[in-house]
Amino acid sequence: MVKVPVKLVSWDEIVEWSFGLSRIVTRDGWRPDVIVAVARGGYVPARLLADFLDVNNMLSVQSQHWTEAARAEERAVLKYPFKVDLNGENVLVVDDIVDTGETLKLARDYVEENWNPGDVRTAALQWISSVAKFEPDYYYLEVKEWTWFQYPWTRLEDLKDFIKRILREDDRLNNGFTLEALTEVFREWYGVDPGEFGFYWDEAISSLVETGYLKKEVS
Ligand code: ADE
Repeated sequence: MVKVPVKLVSWDEIVEWSFGLSRIVTRDGWRPDVIVAVARGGYVPARLLADFLDVNNMLSVQSQHWTEAARAEERAVLKYPFKVDLNGENVLVVDDIVDTGETLKLARDYVEENWNPGDVRTAALQWISSVAKFEPDYYYLEVKEWTWFQYPWTRLEDLKDFIKRILREDDRLNNGFTLEALTEVFREWYGVDPGEFGFYWDEAISSLVETGYLKKEVS
């Protein structure tokens, strides 16, 4: 039984989806003067949209999740709340995915209230409509069933997190295990084969050995 459904997204898909998203914006007859990337996930889609929409002006805000007093629910906070004057220019705020919707909504509201913009709209490559409390003005793909989309810009980070979660939560690996056993458990947990990650898999294992999460034992 897969515990966390994961889908690997390729660079080619990112380009295709970003291009498709740019066409949706264009077809709407609207063009932003400034593109704001929501860090960190929005960087690559925002840069591609700037290319496809022929927009030169870019800024970024970092919206991140924050656990309040060690409670389970998280809320988004703006990490560097700086101010600029956009003189009434139209703004497109871009993120990779709208999951709960909190991150993009917070960034949009912040820009609207603090940067003196004109029209502020939001865009994301993907929108998880079954869980999101916020619908972006523009999206390329609607997702119905919650999935973790493993984007190419977090391949190493995600992989390390995936493995750490197994080490924390799967009792079967408590008393020493082989790399083959970890591979098998990984497949079971995430529904993807570690082989799909290419060189990132070896890199993640080496990094986890270096940082003490995994111990190498030669018998
Ligand atoms: N960031 C927030 N939710 C996500 C998801 N479901 N997939 C990938 N990145 C995300």
